[in-house]
Amino acid sequence: MTGRCALLLLLALLGLQAEARGGRGHGEWDTGDVKLPPLPPREDAARVARFVTHVSGWGALATISANPAVRGRPFVDVLSLSDGPPGSGSGVPYFYLSPLMQTVQDLQENLYSTLTLSLAQTSYCVNHGFDPQSPLCAHTMLSGTVTKVNETELDFAKTSLFTRHPAMKTWPSSHNWFFAKLNITNIWVVDYFGGAKVVTPEEYYNVTFHRDSGHDQSHLLSLSDGGILTTEDKHMHPGHLLSCTW
Ligand SMILES: *[C@@H]1O[C@H](CO)[C@@H](O)[C@H](O)[C@H]1NC(C)=O
Ligand SMILES: *[C@@H]1O[C@H](CO)[C@@H](O)[C@H](O)[C@H]1NC(C)=O
Ligand SMILES: *[C@@H]1O[C@H](CO)[C@@H](O)[C@H](O)[C@H]1NC(C)=O
Repeated sequence: MTGRCALLLLLALLGLQAEARGGRGHGEWDTGDVKLPPLPPREDAARVARFVTHVSGWGALATISANPAVRGRPFVDVLSLSDGPPGSGSGVPYFYLSPLMQTVQDLQENLYSTLTLSLAQTSYCVNHGFDPQSPLCAHTMLSGTVTKVNETELDFAKTSLFTRHPAMKTWPSSHNWFFAKLNITNIWVVDYFGGAKVVTPEEYYNVTFHRDSGHDQSHLLSLSDGGILTTEDKHMHPGHLLSCTW
């Protein structure tokens, strides 16, 4: 119950903030008083990859272009994404796409693509003085195919995206938006010196975030009962948890 209480408060807070900023809620993890949870240990590359995916509100997706001007060449666009509501990341990057997008026209000819996500998109790297190209500014390359999500996953994809990108609800229906995901087949993680680490999809999806009872672990904060990120409580403004007991 206390976990759910904290989650509801957090979601309410995130919702308010997203609304206040007119839906431009890309980095909801590190705006206002909601700080990024701490980076997982760098030696646990699979966990770092899941962390980077979950805190990323957008990424750069590379496709092989179908545009006659650059046909067959790499082409990269910025896409909003979400792998789940805050605190409940699934690891699957979901997108909301339109056939009018160049990226989708590329995908219609070649489903293979690579998504790059970086903590440079959050306050983490600048706060630590890490240049975006520094391996310490953790980033990942997720390669695979982009596919439409089926009926089974539709609700989760929609909730994941609309929670973190409220503006999507108002995008014009004439653009025929649909839900898609990256079916990840290969993962590279750059989180320390010595070159990119290879993580398998099995290792990546195997990661579960910390569960705690809410007691005797005052340094940890459960955000949900599903995929859980831990948050050092010094990163949370205690005022937001006033009505919850721990
Ligand atoms: C939908 O996709 C999920 C994940 O890929 C899969 O587990 C499920 O069986 C699919 N459902 C249908 C009805 O095809
Ligand atoms: C995802 O990729 C795997 C490996 O290439 C493939 O076997 C599977 O059918 C793909 N799933 C979907 C939904 O495209
Ligand atoms: C999955 O996680 C469990 C528990 O952390 C671990 O023992 C196991 O080796 C992991 N398996 C893979 C494929 O990563």
